[in-house]
Amino acid sequence: MDVVEAIRQRKSIRGFKPDTVPEETLREIMEIALRAPSWANTQPWEFAIVRGEKLEEIRQAFVEKAQATEPTNPDLAAPAGFPEPFDSRRRAVGRKLFEIMGIGREDREKRAWWGLQGLKLFEAPVVIYIYTDRAFYSQEGGLNVWPVFDCGLVAENIMLLAVEYGLGTIPAIQAVMYPDVLRNVLGIPDTKLIVLGIAIGYPDPESPTDRFNSERESLDQVARWHGFD
Ligand SMILES: Cc1cc2nc3c(=O)[nH]c(=O)nc-3n(C[C@H](O)[C@H](O)[C@H](O)COP(=O)(O)O)c2cc1C
Repeated sequence: MDVVEAIRQRKSIRGFKPDTVPEETLREIMEIALRAPSWANTQPWEFAIVRGEKLEEIRQAFVEKAQATEPTNPDLAAPAGFPEPFDSRRRAVGRKLFEIMGIGREDREKRAWWGLQGLKLFEAPVVIYIYTDRAFYSQEGGLNVWPVFDCGLVAENIMLLAVEYGLGTIPAIQAVMYPDVLRNVLGIPDTKLIVLGIAIGYPDPESPTDRFNSERESLDQVARWHGFD
């Protein structure tokens, strides 16, 4: 598969088959993904690749915390607000997803259920947690955002490579909402900043979410061309 096809096919998957992903496949994806560029080749990413009982333990703990309405506390805070045009784009995703799922605006119960599905990473059989060194990120004089940026680059590599292997992914802040759980279960020290989780598995074509495709602004709306007249 060429890169154009992989980019076109990739989308966030919110319904997975229970089948696990062979370790060999995950190793191949990860080895190739490490070719991502980074600031002066610092390669600031580290990974915890998790499946089976450990993943269930994390899922269970996340659900318990959510049900106890424990406030979420990701290492990288979620946006405090969404000024326009970002709010409209964000809302469009939620609206369309709920429509496809048949979840009504006022249906609090189903909305709560859906929230839990997200926290459980849609029952994906494997999750790849990405973390980076806190000392490199949080420096005297301010934040060095570049390691987080670089983690994004390697994350996209993983997600595009997954397409090649017939796998689906979703990058998810919901995967890292309770970092203390991840630290406990996976032994990730406090010196690490947990950035993101990528759920990975075989997409379930029976899931209604499979029909969902997010939209994009047109190129002309987001790009200005200079010197092309
Ligand atoms: C950093 C990041 C965090 C995300 N976190 C979540 C999440 O917690 N739950 C979720 O359902 N989708 C999450 N997404 C997926 C986005 O909603 C999705 O990428 C966007 O709507 C575009 O859709 P697409 O990935 O299908 O192209 C996240 C995406 C990114 C890049």
